[in-house]
Amino acid sequence: MRCANAALIARFCECALDTLVAFRDTLRMDRSILESAYDFVRARWPDAHPSLGLILGSGWGAIADALSPRDELAYEEIPGLGSPSVAGHTGRLSLAMHAGIELFIFRGRRHWFEGAGWTPLAIPVYLMKRFGVSTVLLTNAAGGLRPDFKPGDLMTVTDHINMLGSNPLVGPHDDFWGPRFPDQSAVYDARLRAQLTRSAEDVPVTLHHGVYLATTGPTYETPAEILAFRALGADAVGMSTVPEAILANGAGLTVAAVSCITNPAAGIAEDALSHDAVTAAAARAIPGMRTLIERFIESL
Ligand code: HPA
Repeated sequence: MRCANAALIARFCECALDTLVAFRDTLRMDRSILESAYDFVRARWPDAHPSLGLILGSGWGAIADALSPRDELAYEEIPGLGSPSVAGHTGRLSLAMHAGIELFIFRGRRHWFEGAGWTPLAIPVYLMKRFGVSTVLLTNAAGGLRPDFKPGDLMTVTDHINMLGSNPLVGPHDDFWGPRFPDQSAVYDARLRAQLTRSAEDVPVTLHHGVYLATTGPTYETPAEILAFRALGADAVGMSTVPEAILANGAGLTVAAVSCITNPAAGIAEDALSHDAVTAAAARAIPGMRTLIERFIESL
């Protein structure tokens, strides 16, 4: 009898702990994890002084090779980060140099829908900040909501709509991370957008300007949702980028974001959506994406 009670109590404690961990994962990351991540990367790259950071989303990973990576670390080695579970997201951090600018390139990202909480999404942003990065370029694959958006076109993000139902800054506050109530009236820097526009003209590649709406995923949207999002003012839809933009803006970094429009959003074309089709469309657009990013870095 005593044995059965002990087993019951142990099971109860296990469940309570799981619940606490799950709740903690919905809150902003713990500062000690950032310090562990920083110490780890700093020990491997004692002389790194990046001023720019890239986060490469679905289909964008191949552009890292064009930016002379000098060394790389697997995400799984970096405390708090962990391997991406999404196919095509390599999960490597490169230290690179292009046009005399040292940069961190995060090849692949963690997503909220992976269920591992905010920490794996926050680590790249706060690591960049901790290393002295001042400018962050976020990239993603997205569905297009506008009839003039064609697969392979690019879009620089002018603003976003957060439909994640949460926010990576929810949780106990510490001024270390930035203000409690960050202003969001200009998350995406106008000067960087103008530089992206000029760079796109040089390539040349089609670069639209528009509003990116983030859902949690992992489902693609229904046609009714896309109609609703269009009415809300969205031009492109995806499952990423907004958390990192919120974190980076809140931490005082200058932010730009570029989407590769890989497909017409649900209900706009007949085709069913799939991750394979999304990555294949981004792969076809790689030459333009790569040259745009090279030109953009050269313009900084
Ligand atoms: N919806 C959401 N995420 C996406 C899409 C889409 O249509 N295309 C690429 N990522």
